[in-house]
Amino acid sequence: MSDTALAAATAQIEKARRDSALRPVVRTFFDEETFTATHVAYDPTTRKAAVIDSVLNYEAASGRTRNSSAQAVVDYVRQEKLEVGWQLETHAHADHLSAAPWLQEQIGGKLAIGADIRRVQDVFGKIFNAGTAFARDGSQFDQLFHDGETFTVGSLPAIALSVPGHTPADMAYIIGDAAFIGDTLFMPDYGTARADFPGGDARQLYHSIRRLLSLPPETRLFLCHDYKAPGRDQFAWETTVAAERSGNIHVHEGVPEDEFVAMRTNRDKTLGLPNLIMPSVQINIRAGHMPEPEDNGVSYIKIPVNRL
Ligand SMILES: [Fe+2]
Repeated sequence: MSDTALAAATAQIEKARRDSALRPVVRTFFDEETFTATHVAYDPTTRKAAVIDSVLNYEAASGRTRNSSAQAVVDYVRQEKLEVGWQLETHAHADHLSAAPWLQEQIGGKLAIGADIRRVQDVFGKIFNAGTAFARDGSQFDQLFHDGETFTVGSLPAIALSVPGHTPADMAYIIGDAAFIGDTLFMPDYGTARADFPGGDARQLYHSIRRLLSLPPETRLFLCHDYKAPGRDQFAWETTVAAERSGNIHVHEGVPEDEFVAMRTNRDKTLGLPNLIMPSVQINIRAGHMPEPEDNGVSYIKIPVNRL
């Protein structure tokens, strides 16, 4: 089966490997509360930038938000005199809140996510009994990307690749020679993302990962999370296709699909839900906005009892 989106991504990466003007500068901000890497990728020629997977700090006990993680991004963008064209979400995160709406107010950028977010909105809209006021058509976002859709960051070419499995709507964004792959692969010594949230699928994740590992070996991969593998005491969020192919503990070259699916499924059974799954999902399916305030002007997060 020909994969035209993958072929276009490969051609884009190969071109950027030959021409350094087509490679983004990437600066990463790591949020240690949620183990999330927020990346700022910019075109050194035009200083146009994209922010990928921002974090709004949230304290579950008090229900209070803070902007400290996102403020570091704002400070950097201003200091480097970047012009933000995109706020990109690789998926609706279940372990942290997106700061995209707040960042849009501060530094701008169109907010984009994968078009299958509509399926995620449908699944979680039902779980949280969100009612008809909650639109499940992705209209809360400025742009919904389909597999193979191209865009630009300044003069850098970029392409969105659909990589479902962790959720039905995961996207990888490839800007020049750098791929921002969300929750698919983690560092080679840590493995892969879980696939057991509602709508997740280990078999689909395997195929998405194989697709990413078909990109050129020198492709720079930027991850959404790191948890420090046993024996490693620094957080890490950048690797390459070559390093993942040869060394990923779950899915290196030669691991068959059924073996991966069995491993992933068994491992997922041992994992507790993320601390912030309830607020994260309800807010992120609304593109980072709080649920509609009630008649007293306050927004509430729901918790379905004995459901998840
Ligand atoms: Fe995630």
